[in-house]
Amino acid sequence: MKKFLIFVFSLLIFIPLISCRSDDGNKINRKAENPVDTNNNILIVYFSRAGENYDVGYINIGNTAVMAGYIKDYTGGTIFEIIPATPYPEGYEDMKKVSQQETANNIRPEIKNQLENLDRYSVIFVGSPIWYGEPPMIMRTFYDTYKDKLAGKTFVPFGTHEGSGVNSCTRLLKEYFPNAKIFEALGIKGHEVNNSRELVGEWLQKIGITKKEQK
Ligand SMILES: Cc1cc2nc3c(=O)[nH]c(=O)nc-3n(C[C@H](O)[C@H](O)[C@H](O)COP(=O)(O)O)c2cc1C
Repeated sequence: MKKFLIFVFSLLIFIPLISCRSDDGNKINRKAENPVDTNNNILIVYFSRAGENYDVGYINIGNTAVMAGYIKDYTGGTIFEIIPATPYPEGYEDMKKVSQQETANNIRPEIKNQLENLDRYSVIFVGSPIWYGEPPMIMRTFYDTYKDKLAGKTFVPFGTHEGSGVNSCTRLLKEYFPNAKIFEALGIKGHEVNNSRELVGEWLQKIGITKKEQK
């Protein structure tokens, strides 16, 4: 009887382990191995610009800011908005000129606010719009400033765009942190962000970063 019980328990332990493996025998790593305890270790960093933008007219809250808000609601993470020391123009045409100039001159626009206590966080969401196929130069300022303190963190890229996608956000992270664990990014079209709360929830479920059940 004892031997039989040991056999049954062994099956209970090993069957789930076997079913977590992909066909080539490697563990699937698109998803967090254990649901991440989101109560205090998640930081959501983003840059976003309100004002006149492509396909949305004049907006009071930037598209990426809306997306960051959804992530906060689902994860309970702490928000840090990257605020430029010199505000960007509200008009779309003026903004395009400034963006082109920043990229052409490899500028690092100054950040007004400071991020404290980075050691409290282990999972960092990083979000931005896409300007001319790339994250805005101010994201480079952010990485340059906090590179040392961000070493060893796990990253989750996200952003809004109007067709380019957000692969360039992941690429930039890999450029700065080649050995970091980086989760699959989510990009949303800016003009669709107001209807995308559930999509963000599904993505977080898929990558395994969900809010711990509140008791
Ligand atoms: C200067 C500028 C350049 C842009 N270039 C691109 C681009 O190359 N590809 C793209 O898909 N969207 C581009 N867009 C659209 C923005 O990525 C999109 O509107 C985004 O949702 C804006 O986010 P925000 O409101 O958080 O700043 C550009 C917008 C601006 C203002």
